[in-house]
Amino acid sequence: MAPRSLPPKLTAPQTKGHTSVARIPEAWYVLARSEALGQRPLAVTLMGAPLVLFRDGEGQPHALLDRCPHRNVPLSMGRVCEGQLECAYHGWRFDGEGACRRVPGLAGAPEARGRQVPRHPVVEQQGFIWVYGVALPPGEAPKGAPYRFPHADDRAYTTVRHTVEAAGSVHAVIENALDVPHTAFLHRGLFRGAGEPNTLEVEIRRYGDRVEAEYFGEPAPKGLVGRLVAPGANGAVQHVDRFRMPSISEVEYRMGAKSHIVVSSACTPVDDFHTLLYAVVSFRLPLPGWLIAPLIKPVALRIFKQDAVMLAAQTAHIERFGGEQFVSTEIDALGPAILKLMRQGERGVVEQLDTPEIRRFTLKV
Ligand code: FES
Repeated sequence: MAPRSLPPKLTAPQTKGHTSVARIPEAWYVLARSEALGQRPLAVTLMGAPLVLFRDGEGQPHALLDRCPHRNVPLSMGRVCEGQLECAYHGWRFDGEGACRRVPGLAGAPEARGRQVPRHPVVEQQGFIWVYGVALPPGEAPKGAPYRFPHADDRAYTTVRHTVEAAGSVHAVIENALDVPHTAFLHRGLFRGAGEPNTLEVEIRRYGDRVEAEYFGEPAPKGLVGRLVAPGANGAVQHVDRFRMPSISEVEYRMGAKSHIVVSSACTPVDDFHTLLYAVVSFRLPLPGWLIAPLIKPVALRIFKQDAVMLAAQTAHIERFGGEQFVSTEIDALGPAILKLMRQGERGVVEQLDTPEIRRFTLKV
């Protein structure tokens, strides 16, 4: 009998490696919560680069490349000694500027060319350690300043901080954080989607360094979250979602005169498809903050867990197919505009827009 020929093998169509990964090193990123950096050096990763954080004798944080120039051992294996970072192998010591200050056993001056460790500018503010993505020589100023979380220092507000990880690019994570349509579907009953859909008017405003979506006609939130944050609210809801370059998302709700919530997330690219979200939720509500915070947190974490599962699956599939092949409609309000800003950021371009570029559409959600 003639051998039966097999049908051709099914293979996933390949999409030529295109992804929404954007690499913008000339910017500030959160690399740790302040309380995470104590007496011991802390190994962190930014855009694939290993860095080490440590505090000097005055408690000031510093960031160096996590590689001893002597024999390339991770400096994070060492310890802080007299305010300097001491390598665990031969004991070379480095100050916060990355200069070698001591070589055990070496007679004469320890400083010499080639013994310098690249250092990254650091700012500690609002309980976070921000690190500039580019190593700069001592004395050279970085571009701009780190973002400040709105209302995080305001005593009229209760502020909750939480850090989560997502298996996705910064773009995918921020698009998810600011994407309204999926909230009524993936998070149905927790956030939206508990009743009949509402028709909202949406205005997208794009500026040179940010893009935002304002939603008009949104009723007071329903579902569990609505009962917690706006009990009995029936007034107008002002809802704005905002992306700020290079990696900040803000979701802002005002419900009547009494309720104001801002959820800000500083997203840090650990590598191309691994993002850390340093989220700060600041709110002023009719109910006391100490009562609301422990009630909101489990709901917020449940919502994030659902998002994290979806982001991980999306990333795995993008890798499996060799890249992205997205199809969008006008209700995918911010994702393409965020990517446009990120691509400009990669090229160091800031578009000069005297007035924002505006587009409007209707959304049923
Ligand atoms: Fe660091 Fe030798 S490898 S001191």
